[in-house]
Amino acid sequence: MTQRRKIAAGNWKMFGTSGDLPELVAIGQAAAGLSGIETVLGLPATLLTRATGNRVSLGGQDCHAAAQGAHTGDTSAGMLADAGADFVILGHSERRSDHGETDDQVAAKAQAAWAAGLTAIICIGETRAEYEEGRTLDVLRRQIAGSLPEGATAQNTVLAYEPVWAIGTGLTPTADEIQAVHAEVRAMLDAQLPEGATLSVLYGGSVKPGNAAEIFGLADVDGGLVGGASLKAADFVPIMEALAQA
Ligand code: 13P
Repeated sequence: MTQRRKIAAGNWKMFGTSGDLPELVAIGQAAAGLSGIETVLGLPATLLTRATGNRVSLGGQDCHAAAQGAHTGDTSAGMLADAGADFVILGHSERRSDHGETDDQVAAKAQAAWAAGLTAIICIGETRAEYEEGRTLDVLRRQIAGSLPEGATAQNTVLAYEPVWAIGTGLTPTADEIQAVHAEVRAMLDAQLPEGATLSVLYGGSVKPGNAAEIFGLADVDGGLVGGASLKAADFVPIMEALAQA
C-alpha cells in the first residue's frame, strides 16, 4: 500500500500581519531541512501573496463555492490559487459555528477547491456535549458523509479530525481515544470512497511541542492541524520535527 501523506498543517486563523512573516520564513527554512513531510500554513488571505517564495505550502482558510460572482467579502478558490495557495481549509468548526456552514456547503466548497486545483483540508469534529453523550462517531459519520464529495482522493483531499472541545483549550482526548477515533474514521473513509483508505487523516486540537510526538506516533494519525502553536516557529518547528520522526 502506498504511504499516506504526512502533513504538518498550521492554521493561523484571524491572526497575522506582515510583521509576522519572519515566523513563516523561519518555518520554511526548517521545512527545507526535513524530509518525508509536507508543511502547510493556512494564512489569512491578506498575507498569501506576501508569503510566496518560501519552502512552505500555503493555504486559505475558506473559499466560496462559486468560481466568481457578486458575493461581497468572499474569496473564490481560484483567487486563493492565484495568490499562491495550494490548499484550503474547509468546514473548520469556527466556520461551522460562526457562519452556520453546513455539510452540504462544505462539500460544494470542496468541489470548487478541486476545480481550482487546490487540495481541500476538510475539518470534522464533535462538540463537548456530543462527546459527553457518546455521540462522537455518529457525528463524524454524518459529517464525513455530508462534507466529502464523491471524487475525494488522497491528492485532492485531506481530512482533519478536530474535537471542538479540544480547540484552543489545552485539552485533548487521550492517545487511546485519538487512535480509536482515527481508526473508525479511516474505516468510514474506506467504506465511502473508492480511494478512501489512502486519504491522510490529521488530528487537530491543542497540538503542542510537548504532545506532538505521542499523537503523531499513533498508527492512524498522519499529521496535525495546529492553531495557536503554528504562529511561532519556536513552537511549530518542533511539531514538524516530531512528525518527520514519527
Ligand atoms: P489549537 O491548536 O489552537 O487548539 O487550534 C486547533 C485548530 O483549530 C486548528 O484548525
